[in-house]
Amino acid sequence: MKILIGNDHAGTELKFEIMEHLQEEGYEVENFGTDTTERVNYPEIGQKVAEALMAGDGDLGILICGTGVGITLAANKVPGIRAACCSDTTTAHLVREHNHANILGIGARIVGPELAKDIVDSYLNAVPQGGRHQTRIDMITEIEKKYNK
Ligand code: RB5
Repeated sequence: MKILIGNDHAGTELKFEIMEHLQEEGYEVENFGTDTTERVNYPEIGQKVAEALMAGDGDLGILICGTGVGITLAANKVPGIRAACCSDTTTAHLVREHNHANILGIGARIVGPELAKDIVDSYLNAVPQGGRHQTRIDMITEIEKKYNK
């Protein structure tokens, strides 16, 4: 499985920790984020990862900024993206199982590195459940289509 990862300056250190963790677990990882702590604009990174994911360049995305919220909001503007910012492991597996989230957002200023890695594992090990959940995902897609003509 190939993971597309992106981060702004607030998420650089955590990005490297998560990348190393993913590579140890055997995931292929492509890095779209900044590798320094020089200020960058999180919407550009969220957009890059979201567009690459929708282009089929990877299977799932992980986005990291200070709160995890801004970069997730930006990614969600790309049609087909369901990015969910999570600060706990329960939400992380449920957003994959019920909401079929294709991007996980994490706040580097909100959660520590060990919890962040547990959140990543919980998200990646979860399986989308389909069924009634797919019906609701389809409803979300219909809303998106209404505003993206
Ligand atoms: C950058 O200072 C910060 O605003 C950004 O990382 C993020 O938290 C935005 O949502």
